[in-house]
Amino acid sequence: MATTDICILGTGAHVPAKVLTNHELARMVDTTDEWIVTRTGIRERRIASKTEMTSHMAAAAARAALANAGVTAEQIDLVILATLTPDQPMPATACLVQHELGVPAGAACFDLNAACSGFLYALDTAWAMLASGRHQHALVIGAEKMSSLVDWTDRSTCVLFGDGAGAAVLGPARGTAQILGARLYAEGAHAGLLCVPRSPKPFIQMKGREVFKNAVREMEDAVRDILEQHGVAASQIACVVPHQANRRIIESLAQYLGLPLERFVVNLDRYGNTSAASIPLALDEARRAGRVRAGDTTLLVAFGAGLTYGSALVRW
Ligand code: UT7
Repeated sequence: MATTDICILGTGAHVPAKVLTNHELARMVDTTDEWIVTRTGIRERRIASKTEMTSHMAAAAARAALANAGVTAEQIDLVILATLTPDQPMPATACLVQHELGVPAGAACFDLNAACSGFLYALDTAWAMLASGRHQHALVIGAEKMSSLVDWTDRSTCVLFGDGAGAAVLGPARGTAQILGARLYAEGAHAGLLCVPRSPKPFIQMKGREVFKNAVREMEDAVRDILEQHGVAASQIACVVPHQANRRIIESLAQYLGLPLERFVVNLDRYGNTSAASIPLALDEARRAGRVRAGDTTLLVAFGAGLTYGSALVRW
């Protein structure tokens, strides 16, 4: 397939029904709604039930994306699921989603872990596999059950994360929702800043302030590189869909780009940080809200554990 014909044909999202508010959290750990809102912008997040797994949320988001794209599960020949919270170490959660959706056996299905940058890594991988001509229609999913990795007694991390899923269908189309390109990066030297150790407590551990500083610098680098590469001026970006970790990080990115905050999709107030699910969730919301119009250029930008980071440009 010609690379100019690889397009986003549809998007979808799914979040669990249960809402956990800051006020409820303040009854669980020593925190306040005021602290969480001023330091992060988060007001509430969704929490999956014990039996609601990453595969279930992923399949629900994927179904919505297929319906939105007008593509059937039988047409899908590639499923890439970005997650750091697979249902189990093996088989890949992508295979469980394949089975759940009825995607044919001829499809390649695998999980990909690039933490919060996972969706952009998956998008670029799918793009390259479609460009090779060996696949026609890809399901690219970001899905996370972050609540399973959170230490609910640690106020410095438990207020930040939430559960959910988002998905996109990629396939051939002409002149609409074209993926112009992506840039991916990793700095393993900073692996210790944000991790889930195997023992003694297998929960998220984070050096918040350092992650914050790196996140701002890395997202700026990823944005500068991709804009330069495609000869696009920041002012031409109609809509930015950033990873939803902290409102203050998004505000500094807006300042760097010299763009008003209104051009940024922000939904972390309702979902918190859903890791690999955050960009596809926000992208689907932006499309539904009519914030993405034909001809617009949208910038996607992410950072996360690894440290990984990346950016992508889509022309609708
Ligand atoms: O997807 C990537 C994932 N990670 C991120 O994007 C996180 C990036 N980092 C951040 O978003 C911010 O660093 C945080 C929101 C995590 C923390 O904000 P901060 O302004 O960097 O605060 P801090 O870590 O410097 O902590 C300030 C104070 C500390 O108290 P002392 O030492 O100054 O007395 C913390 O103990 O705030 C305290 N604190 C809290 N207080 C009330 C930490 N968490 C809480 C809390 N409620 N939940």
